Amino acid sequence: MDIHLIAAARPNFMKVAPLFHELNNRSGLNPKIIHTGQHYDLNMSDVFFQDFSLPEPHIHLGVGSGTHAQQTGNVMIAYEKVLMAEEPSLVIVVGDVNSTLAATLAAVKLGIPVAHLEAGLRSFDRSMPEEINRLVTDKLADFLWTPSPDGNENLENEGTEASKISFVGNIMIDAFELVKEKICKLDMPSQFNLSGRPYGLVTLHRPSNVDDPETLSLLCRTLTEISADLPLIFPVHPRTKAQLEKYGLWTNPADAPGIRLTGPLGYKQFMNLVMNARVLVTDSGGVQEETTYLGIPCLTLRDNTERPVTITLGTNRLCRIGDLKDAVADILNGKYKKGGIPELWDGRTAVRIGDLLENRIKHKG
Ligand code: UD1
Ligand code: UDP
Repeated sequence: MDIHLIAAARPNFMKVAPLFHELNNRSGLNPKIIHTGQHYDLNMSDVFFQDFSLPEPHIHLGVGSGTHAQQTGNVMIAYEKVLMAEEPSLVIVVGDVNSTLAATLAAVKLGIPVAHLEAGLRSFDRSMPEEINRLVTDKLADFLWTPSPDGNENLENEGTEASKISFVGNIMIDAFELVKEKICKLDMPSQFNLSGRPYGLVTLHRPSNVDDPETLSLLCRTLTEISADLPLIFPVHPRTKAQLEKYGLWTNPADAPGIRLTGPLGYKQFMNLVMNARVLVTDSGGVQEETTYLGIPCLTLRDNTERPVTITLGTNRLCRIGDLKDAVADILNGKYKKGGIPELWDGRTAVRIGDLLENRIKHKG
């Protein structure tokens, strides 16, 4: 059974990796990685193939950056040709990026079944491009694999047939467990002269935080103030880098002496920094989950989250920029939720998916 795994942007590679390895180890399943090229810098793409010992993509569509319609349309046009030539039995899409939606649209129109891993998540905020991608992908996909029971509830509330939905757990935890030993062997804080010292780790890339110059400049001022008490390490996403340059913010390292600005890091390096951090300040979806799993306090600079279990069960808290300084101070004073690990965030999501697919093959006879 030929299965296409769609990989496009940074948060996709760690979701595809455990699935690729699990399916590749099972007879009768033949996974192939299709890279759309949405992310293409070495440290936004290739580094993850090395981190997770993935083979070169079977096919690289080389689509690159663009407006939403350009990116979505270009992936559809390029991937449709591949689908017609290869006729896979199943396409697996992950997450909520533009390529997730584009690959789904191209496949379902050719009658090829699609499975969505990380289905059912909803921020209920349609100003986020990801929410549109999630809604349309889930409406079209044939198999909806959810990471948490809220995903099942959202899908049921939207009238999705129950037979399409399976609660499989969180694949991000599989990714972490796959390379945990190697992560633990690193000492990344020492590379920032912070070995054995408390520090905070920052990642920001949402348009709502980094595209508006007033918001971005308030963020820079707030983080600079916090870094007077707590050194911060900030691996800067390319979107954010472009915006900082555009608005002339932090152009001189002396502007923010307590902040270690660096480029995007590989997964193992980044997760070693997460494990040793006192607090994460983020707007990333994946980081909210990783900190919940590891019990590290996380302050999410957003008005909402499509991952509510990280708040109800985990260590995550939504925070406004104006409240960030106090929220960090609380954490440094030991005032934070200790949290628990959500159901089926156990590193066995890929195995459950492999079992589902094998049963399907047996059933079809
Ligand atoms: C995309 C996803 C977002 C996800 C994020 C993860 C959509 C709508 N957005 O946002 O959901 O959370 O990836 O990181 O799919 N760029 C580079 N090099 C790269 C990639 C991008 O320089 O390798 C720059 C380009 O200037 C590009 C900009 O970053 O225009 C934004 O890239 P894009 O993929 O459109 O959106 P992200 O903000 O990365
Ligand atoms: N990540 C990484 N290097 C970094 C920043 C993040 O490897 O410098 C990882 C992080 O551990 C998480 C994933 O990238 O697994 C999240 O990707 P991102 O924040 O870009 O996307 P989102 O999850 O918000 O869609």
